[in-house]
Amino acid sequence: SLWAVVLAGGVGSRFWPMSTPQRPKQLLPLVDDQPLLVNTLDRLRPLVPPARTLVLTNASLRAPILALVPDLPPDNVVAEPKPAGTAAALAWAAKLVAERGGPDAVMLCVHADWAVGDPGTFRDTLRRAADAAVAHRSLVTVGVVPTRDDPGFGYIQPGDEIEPGVRRVARFVEKPDRSRAARMRAEGFLWNSGIFVWRAGDFLDEVDALCPEVAPALKAAGDDLQRFFDDVTPVAVDVGVMERSRRVLVLPGDFAWDDVGTWGALGRVRRHDEAGNATTGRTHLLDARRNVVHAEGNAVVLYGVDDLVVVSGDGLTLVTTVERSSDLKSLIDSLPDDL
Ligand code: GDD
Ligand code: MG
Repeated sequence: SLWAVVLAGGVGSRFWPMSTPQRPKQLLPLVDDQPLLVNTLDRLRPLVPPARTLVLTNASLRAPILALVPDLPPDNVVAEPKPAGTAAALAWAAKLVAERGGPDAVMLCVHADWAVGDPGTFRDTLRRAADAAVAHRSLVTVGVVPTRDDPGFGYIQPGDEIEPGVRRVARFVEKPDRSRAARMRAEGFLWNSGIFVWRAGDFLDEVDALCPEVAPALKAAGDDLQRFFDDVTPVAVDVGVMERSRRVLVLPGDFAWDDVGTWGALGRVRRHDEAGNATTGRTHLLDARRNVVHAEGNAVVLYGVDDLVVVSGDGLTLVTTVERSSDLKSLIDSLPDDL
């Protein structure tokens, strides 16, 4: 049977002032009027019922998530005592899935913070990935055809075709610089979407064989989640398992997909008006183009301005440009204590 495993950890400050540790981006309504995590679970629901959906997250987000998604069984929301990277999270998930569904149960692993344009094709691709994972006893990645030279993603070089559409992975390249991203895109590399599909038993075998950061801690911990997180060495699954495994395959995904990373990026994934403005909340725009406006606080009115980001929150308004919104770190570091 199919299980969904949703990674919903991480804090992230790129959606300041809306994102806070208690309400990080996966709990924000960034693409439409529902939080990204709710979008993610709704997208999976026709394929996997809540009873077979696991959400892995920071301990402090467990209660808000259960409140947001009342039909998720409380046992299915795993509260990680501390952030330990995606290899640890997925290994723990695989252990739970294997215990509850057996080693043949197939895990559809996704992130809670994506925008997906075509949910039907997304689900069809997950089904095909599950078939390939079972048929070839492999770890299957879904590679998205890049639509720009984005240095913010990992890239996959497809290798030999082993059945129509399914290829071996020649190589993973994580977060290249922009010129290398451009070269790889021209050479037919795919974006590593972060969609991973495998039999729980196969993933546990690969962790055991290839990932010393996680395997001994997993064996020693038994059912003790706290002990596992105390012992494990943080590593991303891409580095700790996928790049080391010779059982990885890639299936191309033909659907609009984006990792919602910055305010400016919302211009790509939100529905926009004819002038390219992407807005939510109470707004009015005249002679304004390509702006991103997020009004959760006061109404926002723009007149005669282009390429701005305006975020109106509770008692605070951020105004920047689409371009500058990709790096808010120096701004956040400079903030006085009373903001
Ligand atoms: N539960 C849990 N625990 N989730 C985590 C943890 C953790 O310790 N660490 C990260 N996550 C979640 C994040 O919230 C995010 O949704 C997802 O796992 C990926 O982690 P990121 O740290 O955001 O990775 P990334 O986006 O920079 O890169 C990865 O994803 C890209 C696609 O979205 C890589 O796999 C890239 O190659 C890939 O292109
Ligand atoms: Mg991400």
